Amino acid sequence: MVRLTDCNNVDDLRQLAKQRLPGPIFHYIDGAADDEVTYRRNSAAFDDCDLVPNVLAGVDAIDMSVTVMGQKLDMPVFCSPTALQRLFHHDGERAVARAAEKFGTLFGVSSLSTVSLAEIGALTNSPKLFQFYFHKDRGLNDAMVERAKAAKFDAMALTVDTITGGNRERDLHTGFTSPPRLTLKSLMSFAAHPRWAFNYFTHEAFELAELKDHVQEGSNVAVSVGDYFSTMLDQSMNWDDAAELCTKWGGPFCLKGIMSVEDAKRAVDIGASAIMISNHGGRQLDGSRAPFDQVAEIADAVDGRIEIILDGGIRRGTHVLKALAAGATACSGGRMYLYALAAAGQPGVERALGNMRSEIERDMKLLGVRNVEEINRDMLRYR
Ligand code: LAC
Repeated sequence: MVRLTDCNNVDDLRQLAKQRLPGPIFHYIDGAADDEVTYRRNSAAFDDCDLVPNVLAGVDAIDMSVTVMGQKLDMPVFCSPTALQRLFHHDGERAVARAAEKFGTLFGVSSLSTVSLAEIGALTNSPKLFQFYFHKDRGLNDAMVERAKAAKFDAMALTVDTITGGNRERDLHTGFTSPPRLTLKSLMSFAAHPRWAFNYFTHEAFELAELKDHVQEGSNVAVSVGDYFSTMLDQSMNWDDAAELCTKWGGPFCLKGIMSVEDAKRAVDIGASAIMISNHGGRQLDGSRAPFDQVAEIADAVDGRIEIILDGGIRRGTHVLKALAAGATACSGGRMYLYALAAAGQPGVERALGNMRSEIERDMKLLGVRNVEEINRDMLRYR
């Protein structure tokens, strides 16, 4: 039995999450599309190059802060928006928001959040990003923009890589739906995880706070996430829609799920402040390239005209440093803190962010850099 205080890295937290969660929920977080090749590559990509340290650099004081979409972050990695958080731990987004605030970093809130934007907006003073899914229902889209503005979110990210549902075979196998459908199999899995089941059933009922008044999927119809993407989101979405949303939002705007140089340049053209180089944690197009493999060529092509966030595969402080050396402005991750949320709520997320911050600080000292500006491509060698 692993304890939170024994969790020194993401994998330890993953083990703890696996113990605590009913199988279908753990595999929803942990799983990815098809053969999960891209999911594995997202982290493995970092192993294809090495850091070349400089020494005698006077590294007694480390400043790892970065500025992302106008917000100063105390660390160069933040919490990507992820869906359904109260399914993983009853405190859900509240736990992640508070932990992110303690570490002075950005918290991304999903369109599929289980706590309302209004509540999260009022909960913390730290920077907040709203992740936007472009629905067929234009009334819902407009309402979400207005609610994010009213809740004083600092930035918006339009997700562009979920035009249809990815083939998540672990979910097909376990029958995962949101909220969980009560079948004999799921009930058995709840019985095997009584602490999770007790907390889930004794706290406020599960809901998708931003969707519940607009779509049936927001209330109590068990549906798979793949079905949701395929039926609710607008597959005709194009660059004009993205540009229009960018204007309508009127604040720092980001495209989440950009992979090609061509698209990164178009993001600059529509006036986006940032892109998240991301393949949705390998959960959509299996066989697509890893974010880290794309950072350098995109950074060279956009030449500082847009911020670059590497999203995906981050498990270690050295991964963050490699991404920054290749040209990223900052990094973000989902599973990196979701296992921790599932394992132990807010203290879990604090543990995950604390481990990451300690690693980055130690690794910056060992690399011989005092701040993020000093990290550059000369410190990276491909094998
Ligand atoms: C997923 C969505 C909901 O990947 O972001 O499951």
